[in-house]
Amino acid sequence: MRPTLIDDASSLTAWSGCAFVPTMGALHEGHASLIRSAARGGRPVVVSIFVNPTQFGPSEDFARYPRTLEADLATCAAAGAAAVFVPAVEAIYPRGIDAAREEAVNLPLPAVATQPRLEDACRPGHFAGVVQVVSKLFELVRPAVAHFGEKDWQQLRVISDMVEMHPTRFDGLRIVPEPTVREDNGLAMSSRNRYLEPSQIEAARGLSRALQVACAAQHPGTAEALMHGTLEEHGLEVQYAVVRSAQSLMPVQGFEVPTRGLIAAKLGNVRLIDTMALPVWR
Ligand code: PAF
Repeated sequence: MRPTLIDDASSLTAWSGCAFVPTMGALHEGHASLIRSAARGGRPVVVSIFVNPTQFGPSEDFARYPRTLEADLATCAAAGAAAVFVPAVEAIYPRGIDAAREEAVNLPLPAVATQPRLEDACRPGHFAGVVQVVSKLFELVRPAVAHFGEKDWQQLRVISDMVEMHPTRFDGLRIVPEPTVREDNGLAMSSRNRYLEPSQIEAARGLSRALQVACAAQHPGTAEALMHGTLEEHGLEVQYAVVRSAQSLMPVQGFEVPTRGLIAAKLGNVRLIDTMALPVWR
């Protein structure tokens, strides 16, 4: 069944207590899997589609970010969404985008959004924009649970900590992490994979291969060296390839605590990220 299309925030009151899947559209199987998982919880699923200007830097891909609304609505319907919220910019930022950008700069952010020097260092201002839009969406939709993919691990940690920082503001909202969905060749699904030329796919597989290689290492330093080597063999320009605490995203001395391998690398103009849980060795 075609989901209810909501473009007027005032009709969202009927959906409070739903399961929520916030997205920027250009939906792929990873999003469909988030929606299906949310639907299994028994609550009606609301998906939002909003390409949020405030989380893109001035030289980033906001203008060319893929906008595929008709296909997205079909994906939402097939995956079991009950409603799709497609707000206009004015519904989220009534005072306009410039004022919203100024507001974002002053938002309090959890430490995991500013200290790890990962996405926060590569994309200054990005998490302020994410916190800004996700908190506005949570306040408008008032979900009971919200589902986020693990592929954007730092984002997932930022949003989880943001909700913990404001327990009453979000009314007991529970954040549910969902595993990364991969192509058969290992490439993590991402809306930005659409930017890849067919000839770049083999190189892009270097990210998941590097993370798999890291899983066999017995020391974080060895894992990082192995990841760098694999990424460079695939012709990728490494921005970071690190082992971090899965919780704080800060450096670790060993594998006694839960850790993640985290990678950001560029193939020409295309920036890709990926992450995997690394084994705990005691
Ligand atoms: O992960 C995304 O698609 C976006 O960052 C989000 C969470 C929808 C906020 O715009």
